[in-house]
Parts: sequence; structure tokens; C-alpha cells
Amino acid sequence: MSKDPLLQPYQLKHLTLKNRIMITSHEPAYPEDGMPKDRYRAYHEVRAKAGVALTMTAGSAAVSRNSPPVFNNILAYKDEVVPWIKRLTDACHDNGCAVMIQLTHLGRRTHWNKGDWLPAVSSSHEREAAHRAFPKQVEDWDIARIIEDYADAAERMKAGGMDGIELQAYGHLMDQFWSPVTNTLDGPYGGSLENRMRFSLEVIEAVRKRVGDDFILGIRFTADEDLEGGITPDEGLQIAQRLKDTGQIDFLNVIRGHIDTDPGLTDVIPVQGMRNAPHLDFAGRIKKEIGLPTFHAAKIPDVATARHAIAEGLLDMVGMTRAHMADPMLVKKIAEKREDDIRPCVGATYCLDRIYQAGDALCIHNAATGRELTMPHEIPPAEQKKKVVIVGAGPAGMEAARVAAERGHDVTVFEAAPDAGGQIRLTAQSERRREMISIIKWRMDQCVARNVRFLFNTFAEADDVTAESPDTVIIATGGLPHTDVLEDGNDLVVSSWDIIAGDVKPGKRVLVYDDAGDHAALQAAEIIAKSGAHVEIMTPDRSFAPDVMAMNLVPYMRSLQDKDVRFTVTYRLKAAKRSGNMITAVVGTDYSSHTEERDFDQIIVNHGTIPMDELYLELKPGSKNLGAVNQEALIFGRPQPLDANPGGAFALYRIGDAVSARNTHAAIYDALRLVKDI
Ligand SMILES: Cc1cc2nc3c(=O)[nH]c(=O)nc-3n(C[C@H](O)[C@H](O)[C@H](O)COP(=O)(O)O)c2cc1C
Ligand code: SF4
Repeated sequence: MSKDPLLQPYQLKHLTLKNRIMITSHEPAYPEDGMPKDRYRAYHEVRAKAGVALTMTAGSAAVSRNSPPVFNNILAYKDEVVPWIKRLTDACHDNGCAVMIQLTHLGRRTHWNKGDWLPAVSSSHEREAAHRAFPKQVEDWDIARIIEDYADAAERMKAGGMDGIELQAYGHLMDQFWSPVTNTLDGPYGGSLENRMRFSLEVIEAVRKRVGDDFILGIRFTADEDLEGGITPDEGLQIAQRLKDTGQIDFLNVIRGHIDTDPGLTDVIPVQGMRNAPHLDFAGRIKKEIGLPTFHAAKIPDVATARHAIAEGLLDMVGMTRAHMADPMLVKKIAEKREDDIRPCVGATYCLDRIYQAGDALCIHNAATGRELTMPHEIPPAEQKKKVVIVGAGPAGMEAARVAAERGHDVTVFEAAPDAGGQIRLTAQSERRREMISIIKWRMDQCVARNVRFLFNTFAEADDVTAESPDTVIIATGGLPHTDVLEDGNDLVVSSWDIIAGDVKPGKRVLVYDDAGDHAALQAAEIIAKSGAHVEIMTPDRSFAPDVMAMNLVPYMRSLQDKDVRFTVTYRLKAAKRSGNMITAVVGTDYSSHTEERDFDQIIVNHGTIPMDELYLELKPGSKNLGAVNQEALIFGRPQPLDANPGGAFALYRIGDAVSARNTHAAIYDALRLVKDI
């Protein structure tokens, strides 16, 4: 038997967990009609099969109707959830994986315009900055009903075959009662800590009465809100002790921080560039002082840190949640001593940011996550070996090369630059975003292990490609910055890439005009602001940087707001003209014919990319399919038809930004779904 601390079993009450790695609860927003249907089950099943000991499903499954499902939560208040839960738990249990679910009432962390349009309720009228609903202050009859709702939902989960449940108490109704910042009640539920905890203890008692002693009941709670006037570490310890004293709680899952604002949430769930495992020692302290089984997750992306957490006795179960989104095979690879093969979570937090924009959770560089019903996590070998030539070694080209190599094909990659990476290499120039380069490095290692041939510093011409006698050619040449967008004065502006790459020095008074809304503008602005210059970031949109999204915006704002930076929304740069040493920006708006002029010494334009498609267009006439992609075949996983041009010599496709300016996930998904069927 393995001596690896991570692979030792753990006895939680009557339940044996086969190792020490768990997935903590997270709502990927995959429910359909509020139910965890096939997509949801498949997502957990593949991870259960690969060996994770415990998967905590949902994330904030709603116990009450007046906890509106603000990020497409599971509706645990409906009886019809039980058979769906049963199918999910059966699939996990069949693979030896324990499965639990997190139940909650969101309190004010939601919005009344979802679900049944019932008012949000909380222990005060104060709204939460992130979700913006002004809640109704709870009345006695709300409290009584919600306690019953918790017990009913717990009973449903037990009937659905769950091994246990976890109550959520960080940023949701339970700890809204606990925290002096969010509890303005008088009487039995407000004032002293005893009163503020009364609601939670009544819920725990009602739930335990309903599910009996042979069911696991735990709580995920903030033991330090790290917020002025909020729960202090000392109070957190008192809360933990009181929870333990009920004799009804089987585990603690420790959180440190508050999630009512985007910056608060980002400190609880750190994104790339932030410290790894920032709250691990604090969780270890709770475990030591309270002595209940202790779980914890917060940016423990690598096996070494997870192993340290268990070996040092800081935790009983270590959460590797995003790590499992990036690589569902994580535990299998540890067990098979293939840790170097683990696809790393790069902390991009595209997954979580998407759910706050009413999207579903997708991993920036694992396009099969959340698409388990159609996309493979393990690539099956092809029936027939082919010669595949790929042009471009950015994220799209590298994913195409990896997947083609895993299919067993003979793969050659041309790349004009001296290294692989394309736009990712540019992104990773920023110290905060350097983890992004692992997207390329992991693929490079996978390709090298499968003998992919790389020809760097080679700007491939059509003859170079045809000289390889390929069966399939994939053009992944990416794009070039598109700055030609002004009515006049395009020659006076530079691109955000010029600044990021260091090809152009920042000016002293700079306009960053961003109508792409992605990372590049802010990344350039950060470099310019750090040089001491005055920067104005201008966008014609209603809000700036919409594609950067909530949690990813936090590090930029922390770095920009204390510098000489101004943000201007709803203004459009129309033209630029030379005025002595300066450049005059002619600024208009989509809302009226108003214009104004402002002087800068440098204007940066961030407007996405224009595809580099010359090679593709040149190769098109000689291809069997004339470059066409059959979209039905692509979407439903069938081989591409190749009968458009019987005289053609090879199949030709283009992917990623060589088609149109999109993001890293889109580029990688393009490659995976095409090449898996080649
Ligand atoms: C898409 C997504 C949704 C999440 N939803 C919840 C949730 O509903 N409840 C919860 O307690 N934590 C939620 N989390 C937080 C995770 O449980 C975990 O604490 C966090 O991802 C940090 O752990 P990690 O660094 O191992 O990913 C979510 C995380 C992600 C990525
Ligand atoms: S999107 Fe980023 S943070 Fe989320 S799982 Fe993927 S790599 Fe990790």
C-alpha cells in the first residue's frame, strides 16, 4: 500500500473516505430547470471514477423559495430533486467515491428578480454589494419556515442517497445572523453571540432530528471575516466551539474572509498571481484548537502543498476544487506516480467569474470540463495514423498538437517565433499572470513525450506545408493587433501589445482606448501607470473591461487605483491628430453628436486582433474540403466530410484567432473538438 499521506484513508464517523483529497462544494451552474441532470452527473462521475475520495456537490443548493437561485443553483426545496440526486449519488458510489451536498439559504446574497420573485431576506436591511438586492429584514415567521425548509431539504438529500450534507455559513443567511455587520435584529436572534447563533443552532437541531445520527452533518463557515466590525478570529473560535458543543456537527470546513464584495471574495478564493494556500495555517489552527475533523480549500493547486497539509496534520481532508476542474484525473495520476502529467490549474478563475456573469463554469484550458457528455478527458487513439501539420504554436495550435499526438498521429508544428505560446507568452510577461505559461508548458511536455516535431523560427509558406505531404493541415496562426479603427490618425496610435511586449516605451500622458474589453488593455495600462505616467482608460461601453470579469478585475484595480489613473466609460475615440509634441484625441460618444478634444503624448488602441489568414487562403484551393468545416459534424462529434474537392491533397482547417479574435478557452475548444475526431 502507498505511503503517500494523500492516499491514506480517513474515517469520518461511520464513513471511510478512501484518500485525503476532496472536491469542495462549487456550483458550476450546470443545473437544468434547477435539477442536477445528466451534465451535472457526468461532471462528478468522471472525477469520482478517477479516484477523488469525496465530492461535495452543489454549492449553495437552495433550501427555500425565497433563496432565489442567483447562479443557477440546485433547487433543494423541490421534491422532484430526489430522483436526480439519486442518479448522481449512485454514479459516484459505483466508483467508490463518497458524495455530499452543500445546503444553504442565500439570505441577501441573491436577487429578488430570480426564481419566484420573492424578496430576499436577511438579518438586516443592508444590501450586499455583489448581488445588490435590498433584503427584507426577517420576521419570526420567516425564521420558523426557513428552519423547516432546511430540515425538509436535508431529508430529501438523505432520500437521494447522499452520505451527508454541509451547511454554508460564509456570506449566506446563517453567518449574516452571526456577523455584527449584518445583524441588526433585537431580541432572541440579535445582540449577543449566543443570540446571533440561535438561528443556526435551531437549524442544526431540526436537521439532525430529521436525518438521524447515522448521517453526516458538517458546516462550512467563516472563522474570521477579516472585515472591520465583523467576526474576529477569537469570535470564530468561539463559534467553532459552540458548534462542536452541540454534539451534532461531524466536520468543520474552514473559510477565512468575507465574500460580500468582489475583492473580499477574491481574498477567500485567490486568483492567479495571489499567494498559494493563504489560509491553510489558519485552518490548521482551528483543527488544533477545536479537534473536529477539518476540511479546507483555497488555492492549493499543487500536489506538494496538498501533501504538506495532510502530512503536517493541518487538515484531515484537503480540497482541490479548481485543480479538479483543470484535471479530473488528478488522483489517478498521483496514484500512478504521474504527477508531472497533471494539467495544472493556472488560477485564471475563468470558471468562477463566468458564473457571476450568469454563465456556466468552464475551465480556461480544459475544454472538456463541463462538457463530459460530448468531450473526452482522455483522448482515444485514432483507428488510422495520419500525418498532421499544424502551423502556429499558440494555445490553439498547441492543443491541436497535443490532441493529435494523443490520437497517435505523426505531428509536425511550424512556429515563426523562437518559442511556443503566442498571445499567452505575452500575457505571462505580467508577473501576476505568469502562471498562464503553464497552459503552454503542460502541452509542450505532453507533445514532447509523444514525439511531436517542432520547427521554431520558421515562418511556414504553402510550399513548406505541402512538402510534408500532410493528410491534415491545421492553421493556428493567430492574429495581429487591430488598431486601424479611427476615422483619422491611425498612424499616430500604438497597440496594447506594443506596450506589453516592451516594443514601445510608455509615454507620460497616455490614453488607453479599449473597445475590446479584455485583459490586454488593463495589462498595458498597468505597465504604463507603474512607470509613473498619467493614464486615462477609455471605453465606449457602459462598463470597462467586461471580458475581464469580476474576480479577475480585482488585482488590476488594486494595482491601478493608487496610481495616476482615470476611468472613462461611454466615450468613443474618433480620431487622433498631431499637435506639436502632443497628440490630440477627438473623443465622441454613441449617445449623441457631442465631441471634445484632449491632449496626450501617447494613444494606445486595444481592439482585438485581425486574423493572420494568408497561408490558409493560399492552401485552400489545394485542399479536399476547400477549408470548410461542417458545423453539424463538429458539434455532434462526427468526422468531417472531405468531398468538396476530389482533386485536393489534404484536409484543411483553421482554428483560434486565425478565424476571429476570441479568447484562450475558445481557441482550445476549437482545437479539441475538431482534432478529437481526426
Ligand atoms: C465555479 C465555482 C463555484 C463555486 N461555488 C461555491 C459554492 O456555491 N459554495 C461554496 O462553498 N464554495 C463555492 N466555490 C468555492 C470552492 O468550493 C473552493 O472553496 C474554491 O474554489 C477554492 O478552492 P480551490 O482553490 O481548490 O479551487 C466555488 C468555486 C468555483 C470554482
Ligand atoms: S479556469 Fe483557471 S482557475 Fe478555473 S479551473 Fe481552469 S485553470 Fe483553474
